[in-house]
Amino acid sequence: MRIETLAVHAGRGIDPATGAVATPIHLSTTFAREPDGGVPHGYVYSRFANPNRDSLEKCLVALEGGAAAAAFASGSAATAAILQALAPGHHVTAPVDAYHGTTKILRDVLGPWGLETTFVDMTDPGAVERAIRPGTKLVWIETPSNPLLRVTDIAAICGIARRAGLIAVCDNTWATPALQRPFDLGADLILHATTKYLSGQHDVLGGAVVAKREDEFFQRIRNLQIAGGAVPSPFECWLVLRGISTLFCRMPGPEKSPRKRYRGAPDGPAWRNALVPGTRREGAGHRGGWQAQAIHPCDEPGWPTEPDRASLLHRASGLPNPGKSPPGLSGPRASRRPDRRSRPGARLAFLESPAGLEYPVSGRRGPGGRPVRLWRTGRKVRTPQGRVVGNTDRG
Ligand SMILES: Cc1ncc(COP(=O)(O)O)c(C=O)c1O
Repeated sequence: MRIETLAVHAGRGIDPATGAVATPIHLSTTFAREPDGGVPHGYVYSRFANPNRDSLEKCLVALEGGAAAAAFASGSAATAAILQALAPGHHVTAPVDAYHGTTKILRDVLGPWGLETTFVDMTDPGAVERAIRPGTKLVWIETPSNPLLRVTDIAAICGIARRAGLIAVCDNTWATPALQRPFDLGADLILHATTKYLSGQHDVLGGAVVAKREDEFFQRIRNLQIAGGAVPSPFECWLVLRGISTLFCRMPGPEKSPRKRYRGAPDGPAWRNALVPGTRREGAGHRGGWQAQAIHPCDEPGWPTEPDRASLLHRASGLPNPGKSPPGLSGPRASRRPDRRSRPGARLAFLESPAGLEYPVSGRRGPGGRPVRLWRTGRKVRTPQGRVVGNTDRG
């Protein structure tokens, strides 16, 4: 079955109890036992497992081509579970440019517990190789990275990990299985913040670990999920699964070049140096991303103080949800990195522009004040006799 079809069907089915074709939400925290104590449906208590979490995990397994999955209450909870499945004294190689919450877990939460981390430029396989030492157990890849959209050669880094006997984890939040297949490129585990593209609606926090093999390391992650209890509620699982149904409408097809996808980004000086994944020379396996980010000093011209693009630009913290969502501004916040273009202490902002389902307009006005379209997608709809009965271009 094609992945687009799996996104709609995997993990779902007709409800045997009622015949419902849409997946019901099972809020029950506990499940009836047989007189002999048996559990006829396999469910005991909803922290251990529940039907909606099972559905979501099955769907993620199918989409990523893995063997097992564990859903969590957030992407960060999933990250923490992977890293806690290691032991004090173990060493991790992680990217210098990664989601700041991941860096925080590695450095501030699990550092004092005894986990050691070397942060390297993951886009340089030589640097990764040099960072490996006797206690190294795991290599963490995040590609495209947040915030700088650096693209890592997954196959090259997983090759290094395999030769050194390390576990290779790939955070696939940004590309999603629609654009990037880390298991095909040698990864052992895939991390998702389902909060982002997979749910795609700004209304649910979630995470997941998908494993290529249901091995002993994954069992430790499963135990942390069940015992630690950082699990998503049945409703949240249902929301993520519902979001996944439209993933392929929201993600651009691999046939479109990143530049073409990016044409929907806002105009203005702040975007001139925008980072667009896939526009530098990138590693094997990268099939594109579709979000553009720019970093701009807030107090210099070009900082879009007013909402533009028909008021679609919002101020919001974190990665604005990339599913159907408007472009957003994250920040302003002080940059952790010195920026040569700005004065010392100047505040920088990350501007993030996901290309969602909104119709791409440029902000420029054409005849009659109508917004100028960036590209024309429409096609005339004709009857078999050739009579035009509609137009798919509603812009
Ligand atoms: C790449 C990446 N991984 C993990 C996370 C953490 O996800 P959550 O916010 O659901 O904890 C984020 C959040 O922005 C992210 O961008």
